[in-house]
Amino acid sequence: ADIIGNADNAGHTTIPLPRDLFQPERVNSRGIEFGERAALNRLVADVATKQTLTLTVKHSAPEDVDRIVSLARDGFPSWSRTPAAMRAAALERAADLLEQRSAHFIALLQREGGKTLDDSVSEVREAADFCRYYAAQGRKLFDNAQPMPGPTGERNTLRLRGRGVFAAISPWNFPLAIFTGQITAALMAGNTVAAKPAEQTPQIAAEAVRLLHEAGIPETALHLIQGDGPIGAALVAHRDIAGVVFTGSTVVARSINRSLAAKDGPIVPLIAETGGINAMIADATALPEQVADDVVTSAFRSAGQRCSALRLLFVQDDVADRMIEMIAGAARELRIGDPSDPATHVGPVIDREAKQQLDAHIARMTREGRVRFAGQAPASGNFVAPHIFELADARQLSEEVFGPILHVVRYRASGLDAVLQAIDDSGYGLTLGIHSRIDDTIEVIVDRLQVGNVYVNRNMIGAVVGVQPFGGHGLSGTGPKAGGPNYLTRFATEQTVTVNT
Ligand code: NAD
Ligand code: ALA
Repeated sequence: ADIIGNADNAGHTTIPLPRDLFQPERVNSRGIEFGERAALNRLVADVATKQTLTLTVKHSAPEDVDRIVSLARDGFPSWSRTPAAMRAAALERAADLLEQRSAHFIALLQREGGKTLDDSVSEVREAADFCRYYAAQGRKLFDNAQPMPGPTGERNTLRLRGRGVFAAISPWNFPLAIFTGQITAALMAGNTVAAKPAEQTPQIAAEAVRLLHEAGIPETALHLIQGDGPIGAALVAHRDIAGVVFTGSTVVARSINRSLAAKDGPIVPLIAETGGINAMIADATALPEQVADDVVTSAFRSAGQRCSALRLLFVQDDVADRMIEMIAGAARELRIGDPSDPATHVGPVIDREAKQQLDAHIARMTREGRVRFAGQAPASGNFVAPHIFELADARQLSEEVFGPILHVVRYRASGLDAVLQAIDDSGYGLTLGIHSRIDDTIEVIVDRLQVGNVYVNRNMIGAVVGVQPFGGHGLSGTGPKAGGPNYLTRFATEQTVTVNT
């Protein structure tokens, strides 16, 4: 089937983005500074109005998958022998191009992804950061074999090599950053790539691939497969796939795992980053204004459509009513609407199906009498207003609800252990927030819970590449962490060479 994207490739505009990989305050979820925001938005609006409104993106047919994977397999010998420094240089050029064309990608993220200005800026920034970070890591890891000194009297070396064709399957909620991050990691490690983006965001993917080719990644090394779940399933099942990197829901990760296990031939590794029922614990020593601000950011920004977003707030009962009131007050101030308006805090959810699912959850919680706050959203369009529901027990939330919906559970000071047990029992372990001024409490919680990213006395979204490596445990993923020092090695295979000297 042909599907229609939202804009074409006209009007590249060069503007400076807030940059510098290791300046987290410029790139994290706190957003860009006000002066930059106004200037940036004028440029983005200018690009957006120059864009025409239709681009046809063709879905691959299942038989195309075989042809494309064969091409990627044929491209492997040449790309895997390309010196790592050259592979890294292409990624760095891609980062430069992303920065030069940031207004164009921001406009696309707003139109196709429904992202606000702040979210779009951070996403372009994150995509460029992945390119530069994996290039820097790859230069260290891949060009030189590591000497392994020992008592054998021989010369022993260990080197990392690409595995073959990697399938890279990505979600719609970070259609540029995660898509680019998966691909660039796999390429840096010497693999060729068949990339299948989410069916909801095909155009951003098409343009990112075009940019990577322009930056110097050979067309034989990087191939795009557009399509939905069954196309992804056909890709994973292909006999020539040597590795899979997947980001998306836990249920799809499981099905990929089963498909790989059922295949004949080599055992294929899966790197899966999935969802979570992410919790925050706020005790009676926490600063209420800071809790309110951080909860609203963590639960409602990006319309709650981040895997890292807060879903379940545990609040100590002595302060619960006051905290909930303050959080509701802060949520009431959020502007919900057109993502191309720079004043908007919460844009639409990704599509009608997502809205219907979230509306059904809200209707059920409302029927059960759990509402503590219900926001107002525009009546037309795929908008879902922020909501806060109070649950008697954390177990009443057993699945990730992927939208701007916060669930609150009260606990007694003596009941912290039960809270930790409930978080553990969920089986997920992606992000965790702690608001407390008691060091011992923080230490106990951090030590007890197997959670990938823990944020203390701040919000819990917006991990910065190379600074806060990101990824979870258990139902939330296999690791290694994206944007961290151990990521690239999982895309590679190791070879030890022993020479009798
Ligand atoms: P999804 O699992 O529905 O889809 C993800 C990708 O998998 C898409 O490209 C889809 O077409 C493809 N797919 C679907 N079925 C498939 C199959 N059987 N075989 C192979 N591929 C298949 O997820 P989504 O709705 O696009 O994204 C939202 C989910 O992603 C949430 O659960 C969120 O928590 C998670 N997520 C996790 C992270 C992380 O880093 N841990 C980051 C972003 C999103
Ligand atoms: N990496 C994204 C975040 O930290 C999902 O919010």
